[in-house]
Amino acid sequence: MSEALFNHREAIAEGWYWLCASRQIRRGQVKALRLLGRDLAVYRGDDGELVALDAYCAHMGAHLAEGRVEGNKLRCFFHHWRYTADGRCDDIPCQPGTPPARAQVKRWPAAERYGLVWIWTGTHAAHAVPEVPELAGLRCRTLQVNRFRKNCHPNVMLINAIDEQHFRSVHGLPGSILSMQALPRDRAHIEFHNSGRVPATHWLGRLLGRCYRDALTYKLSYWHGSTGFVTLGPDFLHFHLMFALHRGDDGETQGQAVAITRRRSGIAGWLFDHAVLALTAAVGWYFARGDTRVFQSIRFDLRTPIAADKAVLAFMRHLDQQPRADWAEPAAHSTHRRHLHRVGGKHA
Ligand code: FES
Ligand SMILES: [Fe+2]
Repeated sequence: MSEALFNHREAIAEGWYWLCASRQIRRGQVKALRLLGRDLAVYRGDDGELVALDAYCAHMGAHLAEGRVEGNKLRCFFHHWRYTADGRCDDIPCQPGTPPARAQVKRWPAAERYGLVWIWTGTHAAHAVPEVPELAGLRCRTLQVNRFRKNCHPNVMLINAIDEQHFRSVHGLPGSILSMQALPRDRAHIEFHNSGRVPATHWLGRLLGRCYRDALTYKLSYWHGSTGFVTLGPDFLHFHLMFALHRGDDGETQGQAVAITRRRSGIAGWLFDHAVLALTAAVGWYFARGDTRVFQSIRFDLRTPIAADKAVLAFMRHLDQQPRADWAEPAAHSTHRRHLHRVGGKHA
């Protein structure tokens, strides 16, 4: 499994990854962010659109987040070269005429959803930003629950919610209540639905049996092996919780949990939505702080899979066939050597 993408030390799936909260970048602001070893300058222009550029100026490598936003463009602090939202330099103050074609930095697709800023780790986004399948196209309210770090890969952390054995061993749920079925949707997206029956012999089963016509609702929707939506709750009210994860430079998981609900109208709707979000947050707290301490010390290696690990294996297989992102940052010296020839050949 050494070349497989699942739990890989360096390679990541091409896809959407959360960066920060939307409110952290206001109009006219630029922010230095880092994702999986790559530095970015992300700004919001006058038009409200987010733009994510590679961080280092094409001139001499100043970090563009030291600069300032001008309208919908970004000007470097150092020698005031100005970049358009597609990463092209369109103004060099001390040099008339059109800037050289190579004076550009890479622009990455960026978007906002559920109160977070997202970046696509490829040139063109092949999918829309991940969303709760049940809430597709609906206006939503969100509550950012907690931000957390775990000492393992995000792929491994997502296993927590589909590992049906641990619901018995750690959470003490009765044996047949959860049976996760993998439902691959496309290359980037896989769902897991519970088809386990609620046992009427158990007190919890008798209670839950009143709330569910069929199996207890427990659905997961995973994107790019890094963003997971959990949907659970009785037939008359579903709770939705997002775990947006990405890897930090040391290989750890950096995550943000967000409670999500459909936006209901009126004051009663507002009150109801906030009660739902608070309840969802309580569930999120449990997921993030409860048994997940095992993810601080795990050295994941599924050496002895058994039938009950089928959902975990399906997730690993699903991730292994996803396209890898070409995300490694180019080394600075490799570009500067090349350009010494162009400007001052005799010095090269
Ligand atoms: S380093 Fe950015 S303009 Fe010179
Ligand atoms: Fe758990």
